[in-house]
Amino acid sequence: MTEFRRHRRLRASANLRRMVRETRWSVDDLVYPLFVQEGLQGREPVAAMPGVDHLGLDELRREVLEVSELGIPAILLFGVPLHKDECSSSAYAEEGIVQQAVRAAKQENPELVVITDVCLCQYNPAGHCGVVRGGRVVNDESLELLVKTAVSHAQAGADVVAPSDMMDGRVAAIRAGLDAAGLTDVAIMSYAVKYASAFYGPFREAAHSAPAFGDRKTYQMDPANAREALREAWSDVAEGADAVMVKPALAYLDITRSLRAELNVPLATYNVSGEYSMVKAAARQGWIHEQTVVDELLTSFKRAGADMVITYHAKDAVRWRREEFGQG
Ligand code: PBG
Repeated sequence: MTEFRRHRRLRASANLRRMVRETRWSVDDLVYPLFVQEGLQGREPVAAMPGVDHLGLDELRREVLEVSELGIPAILLFGVPLHKDECSSSAYAEEGIVQQAVRAAKQENPELVVITDVCLCQYNPAGHCGVVRGGRVVNDESLELLVKTAVSHAQAGADVVAPSDMMDGRVAAIRAGLDAAGLTDVAIMSYAVKYASAFYGPFREAAHSAPAFGDRKTYQMDPANAREALREAWSDVAEGADAVMVKPALAYLDITRSLRAELNVPLATYNVSGEYSMVKAAARQGWIHEQTVVDELLTSFKRAGADMVITYHAKDAVRWRREEFGQG
């Protein structure tokens, strides 16, 4: 018989497998997204995302305490405003919902890292991430409003602003705006590589941000392009991004892997709403074991090279891990 290798030797027991395991995720890697809704008392479920709720400010405070108790280092805040207008004015209002939420979160736990999503799509009736003129999303005019939004989040106390709009030049503009306002210590985590993905479907219900016309393909990336991801990421790093993100996570592990090899800034990946809801739906049918699938997914994001994972499963994942180690 030809000689062969016995790879199975090192898989023979749980302890051996632990010893040779190459990749681990930890609570330190996780960021938990939250949807704060203006004018809401209490919380209301997001139908397309079981386990995710719209939060009033009171419930946001409760979530902050829960996330902190679980040891999750950061939250990512999304706002659902009462009022939308052409200038997206609630995005940068001092008493805007995100600004209020940042202050409330910091009151509950000043140590918790508060990241804010900087975008206009929830705040204007067109539901686009930038300013619309004659049926087109115009780049340079959008920058001004994005800067105002980022600066107002930072003034409210955000530690990190995360522009998700995909306008060109927004990282440079936001960095300059923050610095001019004396906010030199506020970091930028850019959604540098954000694809025009159908996996955002459930989020658009959660954030009431579906585009009223057209789609986001003139600013978000074509899912077919990998080399372009490097161009996007490099320019954001050159413009001053402190960390960059790949989004979505699951169908884009190759992109995370290639960015990890090319860049030396921290890398995040966003396990988006559709990816979450697919797991939830299949688990509810009894078709997959949710806990094991989530562990496998988190491990795969780390294996691909992500430092941080933004996931709606963060709280569950930490709880399951605690149960596993008997610390529940
Ligand atoms: C806002 C934004 C979106 C997501 C994060 N920020 C939606 C979009 O671009 O359409 C998606 C998050 C998710 O699906 O979980 N631009």
